[in-house]
Amino acid sequence: MSWTPLFLLSFLLTCSNVHLGFAQDYGDEAAKDTPPAPPPAQDNCDGIFVSYDFISRVKEYPHVKNASAQAWAFKSTASVLNAGALELKAWKIFIGFQHEEILVSASNAVLVDGDDLPAPVGNGTYLVGYPQADLKTSIDTANDLTQIEVLIEMTGTQFGVKPPGVPMPKTLRLENDGYKCPAPTKKKTSMHVCCARDPKFKAKKVKTTKFLPRLHGDLSITYDIIQATEGNYLAQVTMENNHPLGRLDHWNLTWEWMRGEFIYSMKGAYTHKKDPSDCIYGAPGQYYKDLDFSTVMNCEKKPIISDLPQDRAKDEKVGNIPNCCKNGTLLPTTMDKTKSKAAFQMQVFKLPPDLNRTAIYPPQRWKINGILNPDYKCGAPIRVDPTETADPSGLDLFSESIASWQIVCNITRPKSKSSHCCVSFSSFYNDSVIPCNTCSCGCPNNDTCNPNARAMLLPPEALLVPFDNRTAKAKAWAHLKHQHIPNPLPCPDNCGVSINWHISSDYRKGWTARITLFNWEDVNFEDWFTAIQMNKAFPGYQNVYSFNGTRIPELNKTIFFQGLPGLTYLMGETNGTDPIHGPRVPGKQQSVISFSKKQTPGINIVKGDGFPTKVFFNGEECALPTTFPKPSDGHQSHVSLVPIIFLTIMTFVLMTDYLQ
Ligand SMILES: *[C@@H]1O[C@H](CO)[C@@H](O)[C@H](O)[C@H]1NC(C)=O
Ligand SMILES: *[C@@H]1O[C@H](CO)[C@@H](O)[C@H](O)[C@H]1NC(C)=O
Ligand SMILES: *[C@@H]1O[C@H](CO)[C@@H](O)[C@H](O)[C@H]1NC(C)=O
Ligand SMILES: *[C@@H]1O[C@H](CO)[C@@H](O)[C@H](O)[C@H]1NC(C)=O
Ligand SMILES: *[C@@H]1O[C@H](CO)[C@@H](O)[C@H](O)[C@H]1NC(C)=O
Ligand SMILES: *[C@@H]1O[C@H](CO)[C@@H](O)[C@H](O)[C@H]1NC(C)=O
Ligand SMILES: *[C@@H]1O[C@H](CO)[C@@H](O)[C@H](O)[C@H]1NC(C)=O
Ligand SMILES: *[C@@H]1O[C@H](CO)[C@@H](O)[C@H](O)[C@H]1NC(C)=O
Ligand SMILES: *[C@@H]1O[C@H](CO)[C@@H](O)[C@H](O)[C@H]1NC(C)=O
Ligand SMILES: *[C@@H]1O[C@H](CO)[C@@H](O)[C@H](O)[C@H]1NC(C)=O
Ligand SMILES: *[C@@H]1O[C@H](CO)[C@@H](O)[C@H](O)[C@H]1NC(C)=O
Ligand SMILES: *[C@@H]1O[C@H](CO)[C@@H](O)[C@H](O)[C@H]1NC(C)=O
Repeated sequence: MSWTPLFLLSFLLTCSNVHLGFAQDYGDEAAKDTPPAPPPAQDNCDGIFVSYDFISRVKEYPHVKNASAQAWAFKSTASVLNAGALELKAWKIFIGFQHEEILVSASNAVLVDGDDLPAPVGNGTYLVGYPQADLKTSIDTANDLTQIEVLIEMTGTQFGVKPPGVPMPKTLRLENDGYKCPAPTKKKTSMHVCCARDPKFKAKKVKTTKFLPRLHGDLSITYDIIQATEGNYLAQVTMENNHPLGRLDHWNLTWEWMRGEFIYSMKGAYTHKKDPSDCIYGAPGQYYKDLDFSTVMNCEKKPIISDLPQDRAKDEKVGNIPNCCKNGTLLPTTMDKTKSKAAFQMQVFKLPPDLNRTAIYPPQRWKINGILNPDYKCGAPIRVDPTETADPSGLDLFSESIASWQIVCNITRPKSKSSHCCVSFSSFYNDSVIPCNTCSCGCPNNDTCNPNARAMLLPPEALLVPFDNRTAKAKAWAHLKHQHIPNPLPCPDNCGVSINWHISSDYRKGWTARITLFNWEDVNFEDWFTAIQMNKAFPGYQNVYSFNGTRIPELNKTIFFQGLPGLTYLMGETNGTDPIHGPRVPGKQQSVISFSKKQTPGINIVKGDGFPTKVFFNGEECALPTTFPKPSDGHQSHVSLVPIIFLTIMTFVLMTDYLQ
């Protein structure tokens, strides 16, 4: 076994730490030769002993003069040892890297957020065990180090730190619930910490479980093994949407097989690529000599899995799995409970040395995405108690899965300039529309436009045409309003969906807003929804006229809007009446929302209190403008004309919609 000498090395390094001087700062001095091993700190630890040892580094190309920009290739190890009397389930450690490290490889562990290596870890990183997630006790294993300790060998790149400095992490700790870690003991090339059980920690009283309790996340995926024989197993993958604004359309799920497995067959979903050559010329071909690989579903290390369309739901051959086949749609439970779950089954073939029926390793690095949906980030699979399912026979009988893992995926906020939808603001007291921010949804082509210029104010009717056709209108408007016209012009927002929020009236007892959804893509959105978060105005929400509006109890200050029956489609962009020269026409949905001022005394609509603080479309957070329309100090009569113009346009828009 190759790790034994390494373990000894790390052991020696660890031992050396303890009896070196206390006042030394690890970063400032050269690594001296390590003196012979005195009694190790690890022997005085009766909890979980975590250590990190820097092994070596070499200069990488290019060699640069500026020492803080020099890249180095480093090697280091970390170890986690269970020196306590209780088994440690699903160990998780934090290594506080601080020198712009890029982790290139790590044995026996994976990054918690499922990132592929190489990954930037310069702000520290969480690691969990793979394949060995649990650390048994010395007592239970007769001190079998293979079962009570893991050694992680890491290589990576790191920047700066002039020799003789040693690039050490800032901190090191165990992250599991119920353990407390003091500050680590740092030495020149090593650091260690002994984490003890926290006596104050009270595990939640749940039914006693053999494995870890399930976690609550925005999207919960379970990987249940429902049949296992020598060499292969049947797994059921179930996805549950738990977030009131979580959503996926045409989802693609992918993961990475770590031990050479391949998917023999699948029901309830399919893989995009069916190419047996990866198997035939790879390890599976050598081991399964008699297998006809032309019927094998997928041989990729990273398969891409998609949902089947509804019409296959009852298909005996490829469908017929409860909760399967929704054409890739997952909706929030508040919208439609029956569409908040998805499931499929697959037969997985294993390779030596994992042929043993119980040697099952779930795939790692799960990722899921959809079109115009929130971005999900998935964690590593965690072994949980077996899933219980009611027996299909109808008897009062529950069958348990053989083994179960849970993968928790959480929604991440889109980074600036990478949303999928955006918002424009307008109001009755100002005739200019504040359009979506430049490059709200990214700027792939920015050589003819300026990605950093502020978007130009628009006349209201310009919102109804595609960006390309707004240019002339925007320029004319700028002339009229004596505004500067940047050269080159600002880039488009490039969003597939945009939402206009218009304040349409403000009177003594209340106020109204009008919301318009525009779809600039070719696809239709079925069962669309939008959610509006309003910090000040929320308590005054009264009614919405042509949508179905509900307050979301789980989310603060958020109103959820969806189409009324029959209006649940947001159509795609279509050709105009003059398909050759005329502008294309976006799909639209519109409604008026009324608010009372009784519950929100002091609300100042004209100052911007009537604009939403967050807007979501199909779960995706949309980019908001950074300014509000300002009230003009001009004549009242002039101002009051504007809503009439706007209303006329919108009414026309709606009428044409209904006529279609
Ligand atoms: C050296 O590189 C660092 C990081 O790349 C940079 O911040 C710094 O300005 C550079 N110093 C000089 C003198 O070029
Ligand atoms: C580290 O954190 C800083 C500040 O939060 C952030 O700007 C930077 O992008 C982060 N770096 C990485 C590699 O995550
Ligand atoms: C299913 O999704 C595909 C795109 O992935 C789409 O072309 C098709 O129309 C959808 N089918 C139904 C019945 O919605
Ligand atoms: C509005 O939506 C709620 C929640 O989805 C639903 O219970 C209710 O029946 C809907 N009302 C109408 C009129 O569609
Ligand atoms: C399969 O693994 C289990 C536990 O890991 C072990 O007890 C059993 O002997 C193994 N069976 C074979 C045939 O290797
Ligand atoms: C899903 O994967 C297929 C095949 O790679 C690709 O054509 C499709 O665009 C993907 N869909 C999404 C929503 O990413
Ligand atoms: C997701 O969120 C839950 C609850 O907020 C948290 O316990 C879990 O660690 C998160 N998972 C990931 C992968 O971020
Ligand atoms: C312009 O686009 C290129 C790639 O297409 C990108 O690398 C560059 O950062 C963009 N410029 C700005 C200012 O966003
Ligand atoms: C709208 O823009 C498209 C694409 O640039 C162009 O072909 C069309 O002529 C424009 N129509 C009008 C009325 O400006
Ligand atoms: C709602 O707001 C309260 C207090 O402001 C906060 O404690 C709670 O976490 C919030 N809930 C959600 C789901 O954001
Ligand atoms: C829309 O117009 C384009 C030309 O501008 C034409 O090629 C296309 O076929 C038209 N589509 C439909 C559905 O009429
Ligand atoms: C309308 O609002 C914009 C943006 O806040 C502002 O620049 C403009 O001066 C306002 N128009 C009038 C007539 O006040």
